[in-house]
Amino acid sequence: MNENDYIHSFYKPPFLVMETLAEEAKKNGFPIIGVQTGRLLQHYASIANARRIFEMGSGFGYSALWFVAGMAQTGRIICSDFSTENLQKAEKLFANLHLPQQVIPRCGNALEILELYDKFFDIVFIDIDKHWYSDAFDAAWPKVRKGGFLIADNIFWKGTVFASATGNESTEAIQLFTRRVFNQPDAESVILPVDDGVLVAMKK
Ligand SMILES: C[S@@+](CC[C@H](N)C(=O)[O-])C[C@H]1O[C@@H](n2cnc3c(N)ncnc32)[C@H](O)[C@@H]1O
Repeated sequence: MNENDYIHSFYKPPFLVMETLAEEAKKNGFPIIGVQTGRLLQHYASIANARRIFEMGSGFGYSALWFVAGMAQTGRIICSDFSTENLQKAEKLFANLHLPQQVIPRCGNALEILELYDKFFDIVFIDIDKHWYSDAFDAAWPKVRKGGFLIADNIFWKGTVFASATGNESTEAIQLFTRRVFNQPDAESVILPVDDGVLVAMKK
């Protein structure tokens, strides 16, 4: 048994369908968050007693499902993605679980969709194409409530960020984003070495 197997031996997925969804994503080569990251999202949703979550890059709703497992029953998660097809799958997924009211699918550029909301969010999650990350932070940070969280996936970008000059656009975008977050005066931030690296910034 390795470290991951050991950790996973304690985790039961909050929804049975999650294992099938993860297997299908793997088979189709669609990138989704890891199980430990999912557990973390669930945990932060509970800690924040989240009622309003905005997700940038929802795919077919797998990460949103982890958030739903932790957020308040009256909570809502706005799922944004470029892909109508995937958002329809997300809607179907939540409907099958009798949770249709908890997800609000919005198709288009996540940064532009977020601009349409003027109320604060308990959590904003960033999991979009990496070259958007810094702009996503600038769009999202003013919308995070005090004591709320901005969470971003793929902070290690498969380990490529550990080198100083890679010439890779996505790697450099993640490095820039991470510096940007840690320079934000009203953010208390941490990088968690979970799956592909998760950054959590709490608004002070
Ligand atoms: C890594 S996948 C998201 C996976 C999802 N968070 C999960 O773990 O279940 C990234 C998604 O972001 C979407 N995407 C990339 N850039 C985007 C943007 N600027 N606005 C909206 N969606 C975007 C892609 O269409 C893709 O579905």
